[in-house]
Amino acid sequence: MARTHYIAGNWKMNTSKAEAVALAKDLVEQLKGKSNKYMIGVPFVYLDAVAQVVKGTNILLGAQDVAATPNGAHTGEVSTEMLKDIGVQSVILGHSERRHEIGESDELINKKVRRALNEGLEVVLCIGELLAEREAGEAENVCAFQLSAGLAGVTAEQMKKVTIAYEPVWAIGTGKTATPEDAQAIHKFCRDYIAKLYSQAVADEVIIQYGGSMKASNAPELLAQPDIDGGLIGGAALKAETFVPICVI
Ligand code: 13P
Repeated sequence: MARTHYIAGNWKMNTSKAEAVALAKDLVEQLKGKSNKYMIGVPFVYLDAVAQVVKGTNILLGAQDVAATPNGAHTGEVSTEMLKDIGVQSVILGHSERRHEIGESDELINKKVRRALNEGLEVVLCIGELLAEREAGEAENVCAFQLSAGLAGVTAEQMKKVTIAYEPVWAIGTGKTATPEDAQAIHKFCRDYIAKLYSQAVADEVIIQYGGSMKASNAPELLAQPDIDGGLIGGAALKAETFVPICVI
């Protein structure tokens, strides 16, 4: 089944304000009229400035995290209310850097997923195994667990606003990419698992992005796989000249 390609840039903790605005302007110009789905995951402090640039364009504004609770006494947190107030439409959750550097649990990630969806935001839920887990033959089990835990309590209707990003941790920022065949195999596994959790119809529609050292040179082969519907791009998303070529495949 043909699904729209969805290409998202995760800027992580990078750029200055001026660089963020300039990059967003370049992307707006170069992606105008292009027909894939696009999102940029911008650092919190630059979201407002970038919102002014991407408003009304074909680029969705994304945040890289959100609080699991409504506004209140939660020092340092950023709420769904705040994100929506400035025009954020999507949020990246469960990224491996938050799971493994910050120590976010599947339970917390699930609370954030439900909060974001209940508040009408789109979610990109990241899953993926560590190198040791892959070598131990546990990649599928890890993905299955992260899917069922991350999506607990999410309805079939809400799944229309959920994208899954399969990001093998050993491929992130390392220059190592999963082979298209390996990536396809796990994407297919994830889709079949979502069919078990929901239905074949939900599984057929859900967009599953690949992430991990994706760049213009390896993206065409990855995106040609039947169950790889897009990319969540880190390093190559920081410059229009490296991001746009992936966006227009
Ligand atoms: P890289 O593209 O830099 O490997 O990062 C992938 C990623 O983690 C996107 O969320």
